[in-house]
Amino acid sequence: MNKITIEDVDLKGKRVLMRVDFNVPQNEDGTVRDDTRIRAALPSINYALAHGAKLILMSHLGRPKDYLKSGDTAGLARLKMDPVADCLRGLVNAKVTKLDQVVGPEVEAAVAAMQPGEIILLENTRFEKGEEKNDPELAQQLAKLADVYVSDAFGTVHRAHASTEGVTKYVPVSAAGFLVAKEMAYFTRVLSNPDRPLVAILGGKKVGDKILVIENLLNLVDSLLIGGAMMFTFMKAQGLEIGDSLLDKDGIEVASKILALAQEKGVPLLLPEDVVVAKAFDNDAERKVVAAGEMEPGWIGLDIGPKAVARYCDEIRKAKMVVWNGPVGAFELPNFAKGTRAIAEALAAGDAVSIIGGGDSAAAIAQFGLADKMSHVSTGGGASLEMLEGKALPGLVALTDKNAQCGCGCRCS
Ligand code: 3PG
Repeated sequence: MNKITIEDVDLKGKRVLMRVDFNVPQNEDGTVRDDTRIRAALPSINYALAHGAKLILMSHLGRPKDYLKSGDTAGLARLKMDPVADCLRGLVNAKVTKLDQVVGPEVEAAVAAMQPGEIILLENTRFEKGEEKNDPELAQQLAKLADVYVSDAFGTVHRAHASTEGVTKYVPVSAAGFLVAKEMAYFTRVLSNPDRPLVAILGGKKVGDKILVIENLLNLVDSLLIGGAMMFTFMKAQGLEIGDSLLDKDGIEVASKILALAQEKGVPLLLPEDVVVAKAFDNDAERKVVAAGEMEPGWIGLDIGPKAVARYCDEIRKAKMVVWNGPVGAFELPNFAKGTRAIAEALAAGDAVSIIGGGDSAAAIAQFGLADKMSHVSTGGGASLEMLEGKALPGLVALTDKNAQCGCGCRCS
């Protein structure tokens, strides 16, 4: 089925409602600490402006309901989109007007007064109660603002919200922006037509959080390398001593099942043969390297050891494609970042197509200054994980459905 992208739609003079993921890390004073996600949407934003669109941008920022619950009005105020608008103004060559509402008569009047080449940024979509409930009424109010809907919020396509999914039911045309199209292309390649050998590296704390992705990847990969705190749960499942390392008790049985499944499928599942242990979760804590299984009480594992690094990097060198989700150690502490850094450097130096999941792995790659050496660093944490689980994501399904309704296969405007 053909997928409509922003390039397939005539945008001239049209009101283009674009869902972006401007859910950016903020400083204490609310200003934008990391503008990666804003920059990632620039190709679609600039394309729409260059093609004569009246561009209405919308995004969520943070999780306002947490502050609503605790009555923290200052916290809530920090989630207004004004600092994002300031940041955007520095990145685009266009008038940017930030509105204090998401929908309603003021918004409709402001949109009606727009000129082609201008941008309106709506207030945080999650300030509207109906957003996360995918309320049809809110979706219809949003749709009223648009001739064309563009989804360029890859980080949010796993959410069935009014601004990501519901709205597509009420707009004449829905299309994927360049970022969504690029992210989809990389993940679809991993899932349906990977270069081989395909190696997956998985880190993270809880086995339970990664169970679905591991199960799906075991059907796809040529080898699976495990790191991060969840490696200790796997070691425990093998009957090894893990000292005082983080243990996901509920995950032990799951880990045993995964080990058995990998064996049944004949997929090598690698666990580190040595570990860097420390007296505390502290960069300056006493530390040493021990063999897996020789971790003593009073010590916690915080990184993979040098033998494991050599083994994992060897797998990476042999790979043609590597997908990585989750750092292998406590990379935020420099003394325990060696394993994660070595893997990032091996990927940067090698020829394999490297696809990095968003969230912590993307943060690690950025910390090492190696982002531009990777084939693709995803802007979506949860979304990239759910892609790798093989799930149909509502924000993407909504675009496909629109194509099906359209039936013309290409230009629908
Ligand atoms: C993210 O940061 O992963 C996306 O913006 C989605 O945010 P959410 O997890 O709050 O839905």
